This record gives sequence, structure tokens and C-alpha cells, in this order.
Amino acid sequence: MRKGILVSGVAVGMILAAGWAVAQGTPAAEPAPAAAEIAPEVMTTGGSLFRSNCGVCHGSQGQGAAGPQLAGDAFLARADAVAGQIIRGSDYMPGFPRLADDQVAAIATYIRNSFGNSFGVVTAAEVAAVR
Ligand code: HEC
Repeated sequence: MRKGILVSGVAVGMILAAGWAVAQGTPAAEPAPAAAEIAPEVMTTGGSLFRSNCGVCHGSQGQGAAGPQLAGDAFLARADAVAGQIIRGSDYMPGFPRLADDQVAAIATYIRNSFGNSFGVVTAAEVAAVR
């Protein structure tokens, strides 16, 4: 009987510990992933937002039209500059202030990692810091 109580006490302890581990299961902050680790859904979302908002001026393949070519564009190396360009625009480019941070981040990530570019992820937090 004593042993039974002890065993069930250990079992309850293990269940509690497992529950605690699940509750603590939020992954720690990780560094920005390399290009190979960019979530496919971010590229899908970014690509469709790019084609509907930007492609008319920059070309669906980033080849340029009324706006400059984005393929091989060194400007894209700076995440904050890209986010600012999308949100505020410039003399001959309209800004897109109504896009949400995660949408701007998806477009920025898309153009930085398409058309042969490989500049890595832009996060919604980085966009929020620029806004
Ligand atoms: C109406 C045409 C137009 C649209 C739409 C447009 N752009 Fe532009 N974009 C331009 C022009 C023109 C420039 C060059 C800067 C200027 O003349 O103001 C530019 C500049 C840029 C630059 C800086 C490039 C460099 O090398 O300096 C980036 C990045 C950019 N656009 C991204 C985007 C993205 C992303 C979108 C969609 C959210 C977009 N643009 C929509 C016309 C456009």
C-alpha cells in the first residue's frame, strides 16, 4: 500500500513535469534564418503581394519597367531601407502605408530572395521599427 502511494506519487509528479515542459515549450528567440530557411508561405504571400502592388513598375521578374530593376539591386541589402521604401515610397514611387507589418515584411523578404537575390529575411519587427 505504501509502495502503491509512492509509485502513484511519482507518476503524478511525472505527469506534472510533462505538463510543465509543454507549458514552457515556447521556443527561445532564434537568429534571423538564412535564405534557405525562409518559410515557403512567406515567399508565397510576398510574391502575390509583389505581383499585385509592385510588378507593374518593377516587372514580375524584377527586371524593371517604370521602376528600377530589383534583380541584383544592391539597395536591397539594407532591410530597413527596403521597409522604408515600401511604406513611404519616394519621389516617383507611391508608398504603401496601409500594408500591415507582416505584409511589408513578406514583400521585402520576397524581393530580397527572388530574381537571383539572396539577402535574407526581413521580419515584421524590423518593419515596425522603421514605421
Ligand atoms: C508606380 C510605380 C511603382 C510602384 C507601384 C512601385 N514602385 Fe518601387 N520604385 C519605383 C520607382 C520609380 C523607383 C525609383 C525611386 C524613385 O524614382 O522614386 C522605385 C524604387 C524602389 C526601390 C528602391 C530601388 C533602388 O535601387 O533604389 C525598391 C526596393 C522598390 N521600389 C520596391 C517596391 C515595392 C516592393 C513595391 C510594391 C510594394 C514598389 N516598389 C512599387 C516605382 C514603383
